[in-house]
Amino acid sequence: MKIIIANDYDEVSRLAYGVIKNTVLANPNAVLGLATGSSPVGIYKLMAEDCARGEVSYKNVKTVNLDEYVGLPKDHEQSYKRFMQDNLFNRIDILPENTHLPDGTASDLQAECSRYDALVASLKPDVQLLGIGRNGHIAFNEPGTPFDSNTHTITLEESTRVANAKYFSSLNEVPRKAITLGIKGIMSAKRLLLVANGTEKSDAIARALGGPVDESCPASILQKHGDVVVVLDKNAASKLKF
Ligand code: PGA
Repeated sequence: MKIIIANDYDEVSRLAYGVIKNTVLANPNAVLGLATGSSPVGIYKLMAEDCARGEVSYKNVKTVNLDEYVGLPKDHEQSYKRFMQDNLFNRIDILPENTHLPDGTASDLQAECSRYDALVASLKPDVQLLGIGRNGHIAFNEPGTPFDSNTHTITLEESTRVANAKYFSSLNEVPRKAITLGIKGIMSAKRLLLVANGTEKSDAIARALGGPVDESCPASILQKHGDVVVVLDKNAASKLKF
């Protein structure tokens, strides 16, 4: 595991973007596993800027996202599909048919989970971008999720809903369920790229990287992956003991 400590959010974004840029330059047909939330926004901005300058093209790149709320219409302002379109897909030269998210509006969610697992297994992401929750979740795999889990629907923890309420007009509007790539699917990526910022992530980072590998901290499974790059700002790294 390679741990890089940066000064601030912008530097975290630049360094993490470097990993993605090198992946796409080395393989223009790369498959990128992408994430939502505040952590990747700066990375997506750099991807868009570089693409506009003609330095990197995503014409042959495919993407698979980690998760989606259940029950929000796809064009809802807070759906993850909309987040990805606004922050990235509409700002780079990727083909819409090459971008994939779980469908939280599917009438048969179990079938949707199976479809998504098969899709990720066939695409085999070259790099999977990850944020981390304050409770140690990765994607919407909340504490207690089995490490061998496939794509599944889950009930969001209250702390996760509270953390995400800032994007909605009230806590009550935050969906209670989501569909998420399982830990097994996340671990199937060839490389994992975890980014975290801020003191509020420092406990989760210390447990994930320095604590026991335990299902009570889903991100601790990263210790078992052979190719992990972690980019942290100094606040998120502040409780790591080296
Ligand atoms: P954040 O969320 O990037 O908005 O901090 C990360 C997460 O909860 O997985």
